[in-house]
Amino acid sequence: MHTQGMLRDNALKGKTIIITGGGTGLGRSMGTYFLELGANLVITSRKIEVLEKTAEEMMKQTGGQVLPVQCNVKEYEQVEAVLKAAVEKFGQVDILINNAAGNFISPTERLSHRAFDAVVDIVLKGSYNCTLALGKYWIEKKIKGVVLSTLTTYAFTGSGWVVPSACGKSGVWGMTKSLAVEWAKYGIRLNAVAPGPFPTEGAWSRLLPDPIKEKFDPVKKVPLGRVGDHQELANLAAYLISDYAAYITGDMVNIDGGEWLKGAGQFNNMDMVTDEMWDMLEMFTKGKK
Ligand code: HXC
Ligand code: NAP
Repeated sequence: MHTQGMLRDNALKGKTIIITGGGTGLGRSMGTYFLELGANLVITSRKIEVLEKTAEEMMKQTGGQVLPVQCNVKEYEQVEAVLKAAVEKFGQVDILINNAAGNFISPTERLSHRAFDAVVDIVLKGSYNCTLALGKYWIEKKIKGVVLSTLTTYAFTGSGWVVPSACGKSGVWGMTKSLAVEWAKYGIRLNAVAPGPFPTEGAWSRLLPDPIKEKFDPVKKVPLGRVGDHQELANLAAYLISDYAAYITGDMVNIDGGEWLKGAGQFNNMDMVTDEMWDMLEMFTKGKK
């Protein structure tokens, strides 16, 4: 069930959606589902050859329309150029998905300040560049735009060893809550999703490189005992950007099989205690007055 599309046919009909980092991974999966629901798509990232190939495959698969545009989200002028190209092609833009990201694992003290910039500039600066450009356009044109940002659960818990990413994602979460209130008067909604582990080449190669893959198998950290399926994230994203979610703004929805909560609860690793051990432990704990 969770691997199937959820929304009604044509739920996004007539909407034009820009997805940053839309040529690969989760951006590609979400975009494919938006096309199936009737949207027009603009996919952007740094590598135009990847975008062009993805656009062709997406159009073949869904029959929808996809415009690939090269854009480094760190550069505001390039973001404005994407918006211009999208309006020229589709007439207007309704929805922005801030999905582009950079990340790697490392002890923070080993990082140069340039390494910090490399990640924070994509995640935070890239997201505010896109949100600002689209927001100005929507306000001027009186369009009730929607922003959805792909964050992570450590946007609110924090996480060691991915500190530039945690800084960037937390910043985007702050922007989401702030603008949800400030721009509500224009009818603009902003929300976020916080995925747990969803296998993609981009994330897995940087965060779970081969030498540590087994030891840090993410499945072991997820109470529901599996990684996420791309379609279930696409379902959630499609709902949040659709008019069905018209009363939801300034929120972030976790989709992580309970991963972050398991890490937070003080006794949540007790599933390693066997029934025999519980029999024994009970003798020590029961009947204490
Ligand atoms: C330490 C590193 C490093 C690493 C790069 N640097 N990789 N330092 N460990 N693994 C340092 C470099 O030495 C350099 O510093 C500085 O960072 C810039 O490096 P560049 O290679 O020039 O950067 P750039 O070309 O801008 O590439 C950005 C990138 C790259 C982030 C480093 O990996 C990238 O393009 N990533 C995009 C896709 C991606 O990361 N996807 C995964 C998203 S997954 P010096 O000082 O030497 O000049 C995700 C999941 C979150 O976000 C949650 C999971 C549950
Ligand atoms: P991915 O395939 O590597 O996606 C990252 C995308 O960002 C790529 O398409 C990349 O394309 C683009 N990008 C990077 N720098 C850019 C820049 N400066 N300008 C424009 N585009 C840029 O990895 P993913 O796993 O699908 O990640 C997608 C999103 O999900 C990210 O926000 C990530 O943090 C989030 N997320 C993923 C997971 C997971 O388990 N996979 C979990 C939580 C959150 P180019 O290289 O062509 O620029």
